[in-house]
Amino acid sequence: MLKEKDILDEKVKLLRKKSQLVTFPLSKDDKKLIKDATEYLRKSQDEEYAKEHNIRGGMGLAFVQLGVLKRIFVISYKHDDGNFEEYVVINPKIISHSEELIYVEEGEGCLSVNRDVEGIVPRYARVTVEYKDIDGKTIETRAREEISVAFQHEIDHLDGILFVDKIDKKNPFNNEENMRPI
Ligand code: NI
Repeated sequence: MLKEKDILDEKVKLLRKKSQLVTFPLSKDDKKLIKDATEYLRKSQDEEYAKEHNIRGGMGLAFVQLGVLKRIFVISYKHDDGNFEEYVVINPKIISHSEELIYVEEGEGCLSVNRDVEGIVPRYARVTVEYKDIDGKTIETRAREEISVAFQHEIDHLDGILFVDKIDKKNPFNNEENMRPI
């Protein structure tokens, strides 16, 4: 079972490193970490559990945030009906994207960034991502809106980039009129 303290804070330099391509089959440890990370995200989105354990809700977690430099991340997004939309994503590549840009109006969040950060993080409204699943099978997903943001946020992690790096320091709301808030 993962704990909040297992997730690296932005101050840790490892988060700035590029993660390595993964070969198949996955190790038992990697499979376990995928399971644990997914479970952590699910629980973090359970309001009662999150409050009780004083943890923040998150919908994505990359292996590098757990100290493992492999190109793997998980997404778990809780819909209003309580169902989870989930992805295990390995060695991803964005193969196409929309022209349209969006940004998360209330600000993007990250389980490694333990402070409020204002400003626009420009993201493509839609992306098509090719990746391997847990069994090494090639998958192509067309992601939209929140899920599109999550894929781009997590892919950035694999390249050592945090969302705060993408905010214009001098003018955090620069270019706002050319993007759609979500
Ligand atoms: Ni993050």
